[in-house]
Amino acid sequence: MTGIAIAIDGPAGTGKSTVSREVAKRLKLAYFDTGATYRVATLACLREGVDLANASDVAAMVATMNVELILDPANPRVLLDGEDVSSLIRTDTVALTVSKVATNLEARPLLQQMQRDVIAAELEGGLSEGRGVVAEGRDITTVIAPEADVRILMTADDEVRVARRAGEGADAATVRQAVLGRDKTDSAVSSFHEAADGVLTLDTTDLTIEEAVQGVMDRAAEARA
Ligand code: DC
Repeated sequence: MTGIAIAIDGPAGTGKSTVSREVAKRLKLAYFDTGATYRVATLACLREGVDLANASDVAAMVATMNVELILDPANPRVLLDGEDVSSLIRTDTVALTVSKVATNLEARPLLQQMQRDVIAAELEGGLSEGRGVVAEGRDITTVIAPEADVRILMTADDEVRVARRAGEGADAATVRQAVLGRDKTDSAVSSFHEAADGVLTLDTTDLTIEEAVQGVMDRAAEARA
């Protein structure tokens, strides 16, 4: 028996990262934050002085960068040339430029293939020893893993999403731009506000984290039954 693939899509502030990590911990699965692949590609370009406006140069960097993803839900890490860059890929410098890589139509298919390979590896072996993976990010339920055992689109009202991110620090205008502005930019290349056929919607507007975790666990149990 191969492992289970749980794919979780949705915009920022819906709780998808927190919930995905927690579900992965409880089910002893790998946790794959696909956004990290776009972030590390952005960092690699910034470090090497690659012009982010040059689609081919960015794609060439993506094709050759030396990245290792550690999919441990208790301590997920990203290594670039052997260096742990998990914190660096979360800085404002990367956050404010990552959409340039995410909307690059030459680089995007390469990163999508990398994501498919990571998921396939966890279904056969990898960190989870074949138990499987919770993978989260845009396109995951549609383009990357349409065959996943469980596919969920997490949603929440705009104001709730902004408020959740504001609770993590930063001023209101920056947060509003980060959450709603980036959704808009990313919408150009992926659709993550409406559930595709066969994708379940989980609206977390009025849910606690525990309730959202249970919602995903229930669906995983149904898929295994
Ligand atoms: O989820 P995040 O903030 O780490 O995502 C970083 C960027 O990558 C953001 O612009 C959305 C984009 N992204 C994407 O296009 N596809 C994914 N599967 C994950 C993230």
